[in-house]
Amino acid sequence: MTADVYFGAPDRVAMSQRSQALWQLLSDDPRFAYYGRLVSFSNPGVDPVPWIAALARTQGGAVAYFVPKEDMARHGARLADMGLQIDRHEQFIGRANAYDAARSFLGVTKLPPDVTPFVLDAKSPAALVQDVAALQMANEVLPVPGSIMRGLSIPGMTMAARDSNGEVVAAAASFRAHHARNPNQDVHFWGMIVTRPDRRGERIAAVLGAMVLVQMWEKLGARAFMTGVRADNRSSQALCGKLGVLDSPWAYLVASDPGQVSGRITK
Ligand SMILES: CC(C)(COP(=O)(O)OP(=O)(O)OC[C@H]1O[C@@H](n2cnc3c(N)ncnc32)[C@H](O)[C@@H]1OP(=O)(O)O)[C@@H](O)C(=O)NCCC(=O)NCCS
Repeated sequence: MTADVYFGAPDRVAMSQRSQALWQLLSDDPRFAYYGRLVSFSNPGVDPVPWIAALARTQGGAVAYFVPKEDMARHGARLADMGLQIDRHEQFIGRANAYDAARSFLGVTKLPPDVTPFVLDAKSPAALVQDVAALQMANEVLPVPGSIMRGLSIPGMTMAARDSNGEVVAAAASFRAHHARNPNQDVHFWGMIVTRPDRRGERIAAVLGAMVLVQMWEKLGARAFMTGVRADNRSSQALCGKLGVLDSPWAYLVASDPGQVSGRITK
């Protein structure tokens, strides 16, 4: 494995390193998904509890996607009985409707004149990658390892924007998440959207989110997008709704091992 860059408190760095190493072992198995945070379970119709428990014990945390909302409480209770900490995100999904909405939105909405977008890539200075990760962390959004932020080790991209002082003011990202033989292979992760508090409300986040979505569709063949949103995160829900990424019958079931990581994994 090549050296990578990890972000956050020591427990988050260790978790990221364990996840990346585990992905080396499991990346050929279509039941598992990964976009740089946690190797997660993605096998709808199968009881996720034993899988997510084992993944959480191994990495410190784990997620099961496509869990029917009506099953969440039952699964969560079983995981809590095992001593794991439980969390959830509503699973928002957009398909062609999201591509259409993002294109229409970009047709009528522009970035403020002092703000310039850029994509992180192999040539981006390490300090710039660090600045984007710092903005994510300041907003409780868990960054992925540097190679993934740069779009190098998983197909995808991180787009951010800086102001006329060169300071990063917002970011959005999307990455392939599911295995090519998984029934949801076309559903890409989309999200990690943040705006610096003093620049909120200027639609910078929505424009970046739309640009990422359109580029993923047109350049990387993405045909569906998923993101996990908390039920009380009104700003994120408003932004997703504007771009056609909508609540679904499913949720993300999140389990973490309090002996390895503290607090919730991401916003
Ligand atoms: C989510 C976040 C990126 C939105 O940033 P923002 O600068 O307010 O977003 P935009 O200006 O692009 O707004 C997009 C739309 O959402 C709406 N919106 C924003 N906050 C809202 C709120 N609290 N309630 C209702 N609508 C809201 C805006 O009005 C706008 O719609 P409009 O164009 O019709 O006015 C920002 O609040 C943030 O960084 N939050 C912390 C990190 C986070 O939660 N990220 C998402 C993780 S899932």
